[in-house]
Amino acid sequence: MRLAGWVHRRRDHGGLIFLDVRDRTGLVQVVVDPSAAESAYQSADALRNEWVVAITGEVQVRPAGTENPRIATGGIEIHASEVTVLNPSKTPPFYINEDSDVDESLRLQYRYLDLRRERMAANLVLRHRVVKYIRDFLDGRGFLEVETPMLMKSTPEGARDYLVPSRVHPGHFYALPQSPQQLKQLLMVAGVERYFQIARCFRDEDQRADRQPEFTQLDLEMSFVDESDVLDLMEELYTGLAHATAPEKRVTSPFPRMTYAEAMRRFGSDNPDRRCGMEITYISPTVADSGGGVCTGALAEAGGTVRGIVAPGCAGYSRRELENLTEIVRGQGARGLATIGLDAEAGTAVADLQPDTVRSALARHLDIETVRAIADAMGAGAGDLLLIVAAHEEIVSASLSALRTALGERLELADPDELAFAFVTEFPLFEAGDEGSLLSVHHPFTAPVPEDAGLLEESPTAVRSRAYDLVVNGIELGSGSIRIHDRELQDRIFALLGHSPEEIEERFGHMLEAFEYGVPPHGGFAPGIDRTVMVLAGEPNIREVIPFPKTQSAQDLMMSAPSTVDEQQLVDLNLRLREAAQEITAPE
Ligand code: AMO
Repeated sequence: MRLAGWVHRRRDHGGLIFLDVRDRTGLVQVVVDPSAAESAYQSADALRNEWVVAITGEVQVRPAGTENPRIATGGIEIHASEVTVLNPSKTPPFYINEDSDVDESLRLQYRYLDLRRERMAANLVLRHRVVKYIRDFLDGRGFLEVETPMLMKSTPEGARDYLVPSRVHPGHFYALPQSPQQLKQLLMVAGVERYFQIARCFRDEDQRADRQPEFTQLDLEMSFVDESDVLDLMEELYTGLAHATAPEKRVTSPFPRMTYAEAMRRFGSDNPDRRCGMEITYISPTVADSGGGVCTGALAEAGGTVRGIVAPGCAGYSRRELENLTEIVRGQGARGLATIGLDAEAGTAVADLQPDTVRSALARHLDIETVRAIADAMGAGAGDLLLIVAAHEEIVSASLSALRTALGERLELADPDELAFAFVTEFPLFEAGDEGSLLSVHHPFTAPVPEDAGLLEESPTAVRSRAYDLVVNGIELGSGSIRIHDRELQDRIFALLGHSPEEIEERFGHMLEAFEYGVPPHGGFAPGIDRTVMVLAGEPNIREVIPFPKTQSAQDLMMSAPSTVDEQQLVDLNLRLREAAQEITAPE
């Protein structure tokens, strides 16, 4: 056979040269024996890692006892008759043939070498398979893939736009799409009925482990549907996708569907990691009766509440460990954390808890009956640690959610092989902005829950929306909603968001006009492809599944982008810099 690829490793074994030759599909061992092929041996002798070679030889079964079960081709080897160097290579700046820790800036600068490494190559393949699965799945259900422009007008998704100046129209700018939201809705007006696209999106926002300035969505939209049609479809897609591309992961169907209010009550978060257990319990009534007046300050406040979680088996936490947990809730705005360790012998019933086994700074204020009642209400047992926060509801939720995340990690409560999907529905339509203003929680095209439409003007933040998210293991994978398809209602929403009639006309006139030409009821969804692959690959950072990602500070280290441009390009675009460009400092 003839084989071409890269020298992955070269070993000299007493006269015989062994080469591991690599291509995208894996490795194969080549044996070069000087007594059988002298000139092949001469060439092989000069080879170094990462040189590109062509080998001609014969496939033979490996001698018994020399098989390598760790590689797919471990039962055979190629006995070379010819070895041709197609291209030599400099010594790479890091090892390609081992999964060692390499400085990320170096990896990003030499991404083409980094992508040769096994883990990254596997991520590329996985990403391909994910997108192919999605395309086949949706094609089989009558969806049409339609491309939408990159040079367009801004769609409000809550981030800053990337702008592109127009040369032909001085002083005018295109915006790169934050998502194809308006266009997919206009495709519904156009009668497409079932649209999807593997869509590039651009958002100039602060980066995090699961965010990039440029990312990819599976964007889809359907006509004549309600929430359950969209969620059923997404559930079927993600269940099948996980089985096909990450068979080692466990997915439980059906995916639970809970309202935003329920998610906040049970987990303190709208993207909970359900794998960690430790659901929140509401104990205001229990502590309200407590003799010592514990937490009554918080209960007296409007919106004040007392809730807690149970850290399993942590009754023996040291002062220092408890102080660390307290710091976590302080970081979320809580004044303190009440802790009660049930340090009784394993198996002791809650009703039999005795004062000398209760470890708590509050012990003096709590009679044992109250401790038993709290433990009972929280479903705790001997050996457990109760963590209780009393404050305004939002602070309590944020604090307990942060504790769940930290403890989940520390106690390793989450099974890495489980994908705990859930849908969160009925998000609020608006949140309060500065100075009495309103902001869309999802985006302004999201429909309110019909029963709540009457509250729009008088109590807008109480209005529930028809928006939903898909979450998995504490990550928001996608969002969508049933849309407004009525011009009058859309106008009202824009007005509530504080847009003047002129502004509405200027920014959204095209949408509103389209809404006068027979709009089907419609809704859609957009999961992030990068986040999907990240979760399926079990990668902790989105950059590991993006072939050419940007750094934390939105730089491309390989191409050195962004960069300055020639003065003439600025002149052509009718632009003048307000300040001279500054040197970009080395990445953090
Ligand atoms: P949304 O803004 O919630 O909704 O985005 C949907 C999904 O896109 C992914 N995503 C990102 N991934 C990586 N980096 C980013 N900076 C980033 N921002 C978002 C997430 C997110 O859940 N047009 C609506 C969808 C709709 O209503 O149909 C939208 O874009 O996985």
